[in-house]
This record gives sequence, structure tokens and C-alpha cells, in this order.
Amino acid sequence: MSDVCNLAWWQKTIAYEVYPKSFLDTAGQGTGTIAGITARLDYLHSLGVGALWITPCYKSPMVDNGYDVQDYYAIDPSFGTMANMDELIERGREHGIRVVMDLVFNHTSNRCDWFVESSSSRNNDKADWYIWRDAREDGSAPTNWRSIFGGSAWEWCEERGQYYLHTFAKQQPDLNWECPEVRKALFDIANWWANKGVGGFRIDAITYIKKPPAFEDGPIDGEDGLSPIHDATANQAGILDYLHEFKASVRDGRDIFMVGEANGVDAKDLDQWVGDEGVFDMLFEFSHMHVPVGKAEIWCRPVTWKLTDLKRALGASQRATATNGWYPAFFENHDQPRSTVNFFRCDGPLAKKAKVLAAVLLSTRGTPFVYQGEELGYGNATWRSIDEFDDVQTRAQYEFALSEGLDEQAALAACARFSRDNARTPMQWDATRNAGATDGNPWLPVHDDYPTCNVAVQEGDPDSPLLWYRLLAALRTSHTELVAGDWRELLADDERILAFERTLGDRRSVTLANFSDEEAPYDTAVVAGLAPVAESQGPTTAGTLRPLEAVIWG
Ligand code: NOJ
Repeated sequence: MSDVCNLAWWQKTIAYEVYPKSFLDTAGQGTGTIAGITARLDYLHSLGVGALWITPCYKSPMVDNGYDVQDYYAIDPSFGTMANMDELIERGREHGIRVVMDLVFNHTSNRCDWFVESSSSRNNDKADWYIWRDAREDGSAPTNWRSIFGGSAWEWCEERGQYYLHTFAKQQPDLNWECPEVRKALFDIANWWANKGVGGFRIDAITYIKKPPAFEDGPIDGEDGLSPIHDATANQAGILDYLHEFKASVRDGRDIFMVGEANGVDAKDLDQWVGDEGVFDMLFEFSHMHVPVGKAEIWCRPVTWKLTDLKRALGASQRATATNGWYPAFFENHDQPRSTVNFFRCDGPLAKKAKVLAAVLLSTRGTPFVYQGEELGYGNATWRSIDEFDDVQTRAQYEFALSEGLDEQAALAACARFSRDNARTPMQWDATRNAGATDGNPWLPVHDDYPTCNVAVQEGDPDSPLLWYRLLAALRTSHTELVAGDWRELLADDERILAFERTLGDRRSVTLANFSDEEAPYDTAVVAGLAPVAESQGPTTAGTLRPLEAVIWG
């Protein structure tokens, strides 16, 4: 059993992810700025936020919205200046909020100086900083791997007369972690940012950094004749050696946290990754995110799922971090559709669904990561044409769907359901033009529902998701078991109710969340001796949950 006093600051707080391009524009340019984030620190503070993860705002050609870094030591002018960033870090601290930087270390931009030099010849100082291979005899790519954004994972470079590997877009060449100078350059960057006083790092796509000893074709799984790179390169033996080096160089001796983005790591392997013997403090693994989309994440191949599948995935992660390591709880991030659509198979008001998810997110064991706008209960946006999307992955999924034989309308529907651009539309601050997010031309369409679903409206509505988030944040302070208590699943086989208890000494809470649009009876024994302390739809009746109702008993 943990005690709240023994927990680190980042285990007790709420983390919030900002996608700066869509948060708040202070420059009238259609895209958000760092100054816009600073201007909303009071708002974040009101949500109980203590850690603020900002997706990459380094200098970048923005092929993948900042995940293609050109210069890790510079801020992209579209976001502002390094002085703006220093101010955010400083003012954040005054609000009790520590900035968390996103480290993109699997790859750089192809416009990064390192790659420009590496690609210029076969014998420059950085010749082996990236993954270079000769063509096959017939001139074709070295393997049949498909990049995560579609098409071959290899791109031909005329100057070197070789192919380079890119796990993501061709403008995102993979770094060669085997090269000690590469590792040193990356660790120097992280230390430079840590010395600025940031509170931690989210480390991007970390499971791809170690490549297999031999590069071999994989089984073809689609009409394009390619094989997913993920199956060939994710989570290779030996990866943890590099990451232990990383931890020793950057994390040890500092009061910061590191959370890795780790697609390809199963809950059962979490103990090697987190905790005392692990390499990170927390790991974003995606087993629950895969439930509605399938592990292959091919949007045009629908999967069927039930609530117990989701419960099994969440439960496995809880059990894997029960005594070792810590869990970062999340239902949304900038790569996912909105959770109110993603995790429900029934109709019903989005606000009720958002409150159900929030009850789980803020009372389960782990650090809750809230994604911007999640606290308002957005649904997915309405997409009228593929041209409205501005995302390299969505375009690739669209092309793939067409290659699989879907017509344009069906391919668009798959993108509308699963595209991560659903999470990237401008933040909805108020009912003024462009939801108050920008005076310029927004880079993505503003969500249709912004006149009624926005911060200003919800602040005045006692039943709103926003005020529910604030109530739950406060509950975490008064009910310490919600932060430090053990976790145990209840009603495991129930297909409507997700339920668990938290216990700390003689303190006990029970969360009951009805994910269905039907009344859901339950045995009152699970809440014996407790009283409702948070009710998503007003006074509840013991023994039955209303459709889409969540109640925390304590
Ligand atoms: C994961 C990031 O979250 C995503 O947005 C990005 O496109 C890829 N990694 C590539 O960096």
C-alpha cells in the first residue's frame, strides 16, 4: 500500500496535454501560440493541473505538426520565441504547474542539419547517424516494410545512392541509436531542457528506436504488397539498454518524470519498463485504445468490441503497475478521435458520456492525463470532404482505404470516425467567432457545436462536464484513497458497468460507471457502508445506475 506522503508530485497531480497549434492564438494567425498557453494558466490551475505536457513546438517544417523536428534548441516562430517558452515555464511554476516537453528522438525532420549532412555523402561525420541501406539488386527498397503513415518505409536518396528508413513520413528519417554520438546528442538536448526547469518529458515513439539485427521482409497484409513496419521493428531486444543509459544521463538525480509513448509494449511487460528497475516513470501503452480500432489500427477494417474487452485491457494495466511503477491514465490524446465517440457503442448525450469517462479517469489509480477539450465533452467533428483534414496519417489511411476497394464516401467515413484531426480542431473557449481560439483563419475547421459546447457556457452550467472535472479534481484532494489507494476491480463480467474500488488504510471509495444507454442494476453490497460523493446526474438510487450515469461512493 502506498501513502500519499510517499508519492512524488507527478503521481499526485493531474496532467493536461496541450496541442499548442489549436489551443489559443494570440497572434491572429490561425494557429495557437505559447503565449496563448501562458494566458490560460489560471484555467488549467482551476482543473487541478500540475503537469502540462505540450506537444512539440521546436523549429519544424511541420509536415507532422512538429513531430518532425528541425532544431531541438529553437522554438518554431509560428509558436513564438524561446523567451515565450521561458516565460511559460516560469509562470507555470508560479501556478504550481510544471511544463513537460515532448522529446521526439526516434527521428528528426529531413531538414534537420544532422540529416542534411548525413545524406550528403557516404563518408561525412554524420554518415551513420540515420539508417542507410543499399538497394536490392533490382534497385527496389531493402525490405517490404510499410511506414506507419503508409507507403514504403524506405526513401531513395540520390546523393548517397542509398535508401534511408522512416518509420513515419518520409520527411521523418529514423535516427541510428546504435551510433554513440547520436545518443549523446539526444541526451544533451534532454539535459538542456531539464536544466531550464521543466517538470518532465514525454518521449515520442520510443519503442521504435532499436532496429532488428537483420532487415527481412515481413508478411504482406494489404493490397499494397507491404508489411507493417511495426511488426518488424517495434520493441526489439536490447532497446532497454539504450533507455537505461538515457535514464542515467537525464532522469537520475532530478525531481522530474519521464513518460514513454510505447506502442508495442504489452501490459504484461510493463515491469521491465517502469518502476525501480525500469527505464521510465510511466508508460503510455495502448491496449485499451486498441479496443475500438483493433491492434492493426486500420480504420477501414472495423472491429467489434464489448465493454468487458475495455475492462480487461484497463485492468491488465492496473494489475501490472499495482506494486511496481505507475500508470498514466488516459482516454484521449492528440492522436486519437474523441473519447465520447470512441468508447461508447450506444447513443446518448455526449455530456453524459464525458462525465462517465471523467469519473473513471480521475478516480482510477495513476496520474490522469486530460487532453485539451476532453473536459468539455466534445464529440468528433463533422468532416465534409477529405480536403478538410490536415494530417499526414489521415491522408494515408484514406489512400489505403481506397486501395482496399472502399469508395470515396466510405473512406471518408472511416477517417471521420477515427482521424486524430478530431482532437485537433480549435479549442472551444466561448461562443464568439472561431470559438475564441483565433482571430485568424483557423488551420482546421472549428467544431460545429462550439456555440453551445465551450468553456464560457460550461462554467455557468452546474451539470456541465467542465464543472464535473473540477468537482472530481477537488475530490482527489479530500479523498486521498483516489490518489494513493490500491485498486481492485468489481463487477468484472458486467457488460454495462465498469466498477472498481480504491482503498487506503481504512478509507475506501467505489466508482460505478454505466457505459450503456440502459438502466443498470447492481448488487448494493459493493457500496455497503459508503455514501455517494460524486453523482454525475444528481442524486442517485443505490442498486441501479441510470443510462450513462457515473457515481463515486466514498
Ligand atoms: C507519435 C505522436 O504522438 C504522433 O503525433 C506522431 O505523428 C508520431 N509519433 C511521429 O512522431
